Amino acid sequence: MTLESAPDFTVPADRPVTGEQVTSPGSEWWRTAVIYQIYPRSFADSTGDGIGDLPGITSRLHSLAELGVDAVWLSPFFSSPQKDAGYDVSDYCDVDPMFGTLADFDTLMATAHDLGLRVIADMVPNHTSDQHRWFQEALASSEGSAERDRYMFRDGKGPNGDIAPNNWESVFGGPMWQRITNPDGTPGQWYLHIFDVSQPDLNWENPWVREQFFDILRFWLDRGVDGFRVDVAHGMIKEEGLPDYTPPMETASMGGTAAAATDLVPGIADVPPDPPYWGHSGVHDIWRGWNAVLAEYPGDRVMAAEAWVDPLEKMALWVRPDEFSQAFNFGYMFTEWTARDMRKVVDDSIAAFGAVGAPSTWVLSNHDVVRHATRLALHADVPQGSGIGPKTPGKPDTASGLRRARAATSLMLSLPGSAYLYQGEELGLPEDMELPDSARQDPTWLRTNHEKYGRDGCRVPIPWEADKPSYGFGPSGNSWLPQPEDWAPYARDAQEGLAGSTLELYRTALALRSEHRLGAGAVQWLDGYGPDVIALRNGPVTVIVNLGKVAVELPIGELLLASEDIIGGALPADTAVWLRS
Ligand code: NOJ
Repeated sequence: MTLESAPDFTVPADRPVTGEQVTSPGSEWWRTAVIYQIYPRSFADSTGDGIGDLPGITSRLHSLAELGVDAVWLSPFFSSPQKDAGYDVSDYCDVDPMFGTLADFDTLMATAHDLGLRVIADMVPNHTSDQHRWFQEALASSEGSAERDRYMFRDGKGPNGDIAPNNWESVFGGPMWQRITNPDGTPGQWYLHIFDVSQPDLNWENPWVREQFFDILRFWLDRGVDGFRVDVAHGMIKEEGLPDYTPPMETASMGGTAAAATDLVPGIADVPPDPPYWGHSGVHDIWRGWNAVLAEYPGDRVMAAEAWVDPLEKMALWVRPDEFSQAFNFGYMFTEWTARDMRKVVDDSIAAFGAVGAPSTWVLSNHDVVRHATRLALHADVPQGSGIGPKTPGKPDTASGLRRARAATSLMLSLPGSAYLYQGEELGLPEDMELPDSARQDPTWLRTNHEKYGRDGCRVPIPWEADKPSYGFGPSGNSWLPQPEDWAPYARDAQEGLAGSTLELYRTALALRSEHRLGAGAVQWLDGYGPDVIALRNGPVTVIVNLGKVAVELPIGELLLASEDIIGGALPADTAVWLRS
């Protein structure tokens, strides 16, 4: 594609370069990788039971290699009662029968490696399922026993011990404590669960717990995994004495996006960063131990932290050289769609992570937040922080959300560092805002008595073939969450080879990113395009994004990529282009 009458592209003299942000040095693959998140239950179903599985994933891996990603991260597929969609693990060293077998996992690994894709497993160490053998043994053992000490058991307050040990509230709603009944039928101690009641927190002060996880890591490393995404990497150590804590109210002025983060995990944005259960400095010793285990293995194994800590300088502590390789950049995810804010977060991210020698990461969607094709069209009046559903007033406009999402992704994939994609975003999938109440399964929905919709809207099984039952998700029409009736145009086969489709935009961006080694590059800002425009140069590519409402004039030059049609040399609102510098 070439813009009209464009012999050469040159940055005009009045567009000064204002400093350079260089990503950190190092040759490990993960520093520049694009990592695709697979949410196993919603990716591909091989059996027709309506739930995705490992053989289903294996059968579709070639399409991810064709898309141009470097690695896949698999959300948990371990044995689990599925009270929190697999983030409640009852056996860390086995595959849940719903997803297949260990042999299926081995086949998946081998196929991925043959295709040049690395595989990252999702480790969930903050809590287990209440059905885990360790917890069952703790329940059957007496107070003060070694088995009880694996978890956070405490006596209740009050003369009968019937008041919870403190006032903490679970992330999913309701109290963070549950009282147990002793084997003899009498009321017993309480246990802590930051998340669902079925997810008791482990006691990470206990060396026995630490040892168990070294073995678990080695179990999967021996099977060939290229690393781990680590769940709740900011939550494992709690403040001594477990003092009461009341989080501040969300402010009315807070944009919807920030509210989304605070709803899932307090500790970001306007919420003070240090509740007694998040971001404790005691966690770093755990991660140094994990880092040492990964270092026993050949190759560059990766450890990615899900650490909801704010500000970025604090998050950077998780990615010091002897801890995690990288951390999800949630600050970037929830930045308002303005040129000023986006530029600032890019600068701040590269500076903060670079200061400790780590690459920045970039992420716009995952299985916990409103899909960015919808989220970016939200406005402050929409209370979307806890999901969007049929009764949410003033729902966002899907078309304008998708337009922004395509521009936002085009910007993201031009940046140095490592980027995360969430399954279905390459299809431009919106949040499913019309999921019927009866279908919802997120514990947030259940624990808040249906007050908060939760995260099911971003977890609906993805469409592969427009004309097949369940859009080709599986061989039957079954799908654990119902798919919307109007998703055929989003199906992968409907977008393949279609000029202008979101799938082709992602493919082009990923191919160019790889060809021009943008992940290993640096950001040079180009000024002079106006307050609503971000312009940068990374290697041979100039990226211009119009985040405003009116079109702006483009410099002439060879157009490598455009998130919307470019007509007459003007860059429309909510559009990004990549030009050859
Ligand atoms: C973060 C995971 O991403 C989320 O899905 C889960 O509910 C919580 N951690 C608890 O494990």
